[in-house]
Amino acid sequence: MSEKEIKTPSQYRNRIEELFGDDFLEQSKEWLQQYNKLMAYYRCAIMEIETKLNVLNEEFSLRHDRNPINDIKSRLKHPISIKEKLERRGLPLTPDSIEQNLGDVAGVRVICSFPEDVYTLADALLSQDDITLIEKKDYIEHPKENGYRSLHLIVNVPIFLAHEKRSMKVEIQLRTIAMDVWASLEHQLRYKKEFEFTEAMAKELLHCASLSAELDARMDALRNLVNLSENQIDPEK
Ligand code: GTP
Ligand code: MG
Repeated sequence: MSEKEIKTPSQYRNRIEELFGDDFLEQSKEWLQQYNKLMAYYRCAIMEIETKLNVLNEEFSLRHDRNPINDIKSRLKHPISIKEKLERRGLPLTPDSIEQNLGDVAGVRVICSFPEDVYTLADALLSQDDITLIEKKDYIEHPKENGYRSLHLIVNVPIFLAHEKRSMKVEIQLRTIAMDVWASLEHQLRYKKEFEFTEAMAKELLHCASLSAELDARMDALRNLVNLSENQIDPEK
């Protein structure tokens, strides 16, 4: 039977089995179920991390009359990006392999008001007894060559299901508003289709990154001044 003659679902099924083997469809169905379950677990892990961050934000704002967190943006890695990353590393494309080898399937980006808030939040989160740090990259202390700044953490967080407790990896990126503006615009410019990113543009972006770092430093100095005068008014606070 030629491809053009295939009309009914059972003809499709037969053709797929002919091409890929008898148990291909069954295996694919099982794989998809496992994949969907794994993604649900990652969504739960994101919820756990978001709740922890919201609690810290709430407590901080009670004590200091301001919010250290400006915004939280979370995402699950797209299936195509998962596939590409595993293929790039020559790793198997299975749910087990995803869970073992990728640390950034669940991603939480925390946009903070000031640089100091980034570290206060990271320290508070990491000191919680159910959080385990797997990897830390401090691109604020040591910016990337192109000027990118952020604090990256990969942590294990437990999720509690009806009959089991599971530990899931979550990548947390903490950055200030200024760092986020730079990273978002740099990403847009760098990945613009049919446009060559020149050396001169990279240099200009690096210059913008240093302006953004200066903005952060100046805002932090202002925040220190405000803190100082607050403490003078009310030393107990
Ligand atoms: P991958 O996890 O495979 O991407 O490699 P890695 O572990 O070396 O990456 P790293 O932890 O340095 O960065 C991972 C994520 O940080 C990326 O997916 C981006 O979201 C962000 N990131 C890192 N570098 C840059 C950058 O130069 N520009 C922007 N806009 N984002 C970046
Ligand atoms: Mg990474």
